[in-house]
Amino acid sequence: MMTKNKKLIEWVDHWAGICQPDNVVWCDGSQSEYDRLMQEMVEGGVAVKLDEKKRPGSYYFQSDPSDVARVENRTFICSKTKEEAGPTNNWADPDQMRQTMLGLFKGCMKGRTMYVIPFSMGPLGSKIAHIGVEISDSAYVVCNMRIMTRMGKAVLDLLGDDGEFIPCIHSVGYPLAPGQKDVKWPCAPIEQKYITHFPDTYEIWSYGSGYGGNALLGKKCFALRIASVMARDQGWMAEHMLILGLTSPKGEKKYVAAAFPSACGKTNLAMLIPTIPGWKVETVGDDIAWMKYHTDGRLYAINPEAGFFGVAPMTSLETNRNAMLSARANSIFTNVGLTPDGDIWWEGIGYPCPEGTIDWKGNVYDPASGEPCAHPNARFTAPASQCPCIDKDWENPVGVPISAILFGGRRPSTVPLVHESFSWNHGVFMGSIVGSEVTAAAIGLKAGVRRDPFAMLPFCGYNMGDYFKHWISIGQKTSADKLPKIFFVNWFRKKDGKWLWPGYGENSRVLAYIFERCNDQGKSVNSPIGILPAPDGIDTTGLEITPDDMKEVLAVNPDEWREEIKGVEEYYAQFGDHLPGELKDELKALKNRLG
Ligand code: GTP
Ligand code: SPV
Ligand code: MN
Repeated sequence: MMTKNKKLIEWVDHWAGICQPDNVVWCDGSQSEYDRLMQEMVEGGVAVKLDEKKRPGSYYFQSDPSDVARVENRTFICSKTKEEAGPTNNWADPDQMRQTMLGLFKGCMKGRTMYVIPFSMGPLGSKIAHIGVEISDSAYVVCNMRIMTRMGKAVLDLLGDDGEFIPCIHSVGYPLAPGQKDVKWPCAPIEQKYITHFPDTYEIWSYGSGYGGNALLGKKCFALRIASVMARDQGWMAEHMLILGLTSPKGEKKYVAAAFPSACGKTNLAMLIPTIPGWKVETVGDDIAWMKYHTDGRLYAINPEAGFFGVAPMTSLETNRNAMLSARANSIFTNVGLTPDGDIWWEGIGYPCPEGTIDWKGNVYDPASGEPCAHPNARFTAPASQCPCIDKDWENPVGVPISAILFGGRRPSTVPLVHESFSWNHGVFMGSIVGSEVTAAAIGLKAGVRRDPFAMLPFCGYNMGDYFKHWISIGQKTSADKLPKIFFVNWFRKKDGKWLWPGYGENSRVLAYIFERCNDQGKSVNSPIGILPAPDGIDTTGLEITPDDMKEVLAVNPDEWREEIKGVEEYYAQFGDHLPGELKDELKALKNRLG
């Protein structure tokens, strides 16, 4: 044991008694520990070591076909009352849920090792950072957590004898009887999966899944669902946002945070290579931002993570060179294709699939089958430190000052390429009405556009109406000139089934416009929904887009927006008294402007 922290030792003993593992291992986070666990998984047929020349230090995994993404209908917020969880979360009574889950946890680690994983979300010792400890019976989880967080002995040292930590308990839910052979990807059937949060005690209990946000508990469970509650209680913000640094040709630098729903382009924007000369983008984070007021009255953000858990399909040297280079070594690949020469392949990687490639289900890939080789939610886990464009301040414990906040989603119609809010409260309104076509990042959702306020629908740990209020109140804590400006972007508008806007690196044109707006420059015009770029407000030099298409991508159609408002009114109705008056006012004002 590497700690004298009484609370931690007692907590681990308590869960070892319930889960009954064969042994308990305290993770030190070292390279040798990582290598040993990977070696064991390779020997057990669970992992494949990729070719050392092509993909040094990297490993390949295939999940069970039933365990490929987050499971929103098995994710629970167990506050004391249903009202506290709000209408958009699955609520369950905390006492009943504890009983149900204790029944499942009892003996669930038989035949397995229990790993104790101390981790810090945020740079060690940063005032914005917080410590968690995850107990898990998955070595795959240990290895992923080592990339995604600061993990191991240094965290225990920082925790000391009486430091506080967020307890996170996880099991794949597949105990082994004596002599029973393990399977490649143990997990429990869907109706036994529970991804549960207890906001009143800041606890996370997760059972039955080994994949992504269901199992790497520092990420969505802690850094968003529980942290959003802590942030409400303590006056800060935990958001589903990338953070990037943007430098102009004159050498001026600003930081931008952006909230897009899952699989809607955060990783891509965070690492974008501008197509317009002289501009530079550097990455602070690609998925989560924790923001606090600094002594200068501005909001500062840190990335609580240390790695990227990125969508693999469509990632290429063309679309996201920096992500490809981040994952060039020391990375984990899950549910992509495995080539005969020991490398990985996926749809949109930028070159043809080598013959004899194994698909994510373990069969030889047949391009004629109509099935993809990689699962649409296949992911790479890569250290942020390997990103060629990582920002020099990405580990600065103070964070970086945020000049602009962007909201966005996949909207085939209605929403223009970019518009800007008239005020903070109007910006909060824009965040509250974010909608997006659903993606493969979660299992079992109906196709089509759904509301995903602030891209936090699956990640807010309390009543979404109260979360809206929290955003309003954040805007009242400083002077208007110190608040970030708020924008709404949409790279996904379509005509005849095709994207109107080329996206990816070309999004730098929109970032440049936003940068200028933050300096009170940039050519703009008012519209009923907000401030739009003037027809020549966005630099299209060298871009292959017709003037008609450019007009269409920026168009605001009042009829479409009247329809949109109907949807918003229906959506808002469920929040009752929890909906802030400020947002009702914003909705009324928008209706008036539309006439
Ligand atoms: P999570 O990790 O699930 O939170 O996703 P994310 O928001 O980081 O999304 P990501 O950047 O991984 O992009 C998801 C998918 O959208 C990928 O297949 C990208 O290739 C695609 N994508 C990203 N940016 C653009 C864009 O500007 N235009 C178009 N058409 N597609 C994009
Ligand atoms: C998301 O779905 O928004 C992700 C992937 O970033 S996961 O970590 O699985 O939640
Ligand atoms: Mn995400």
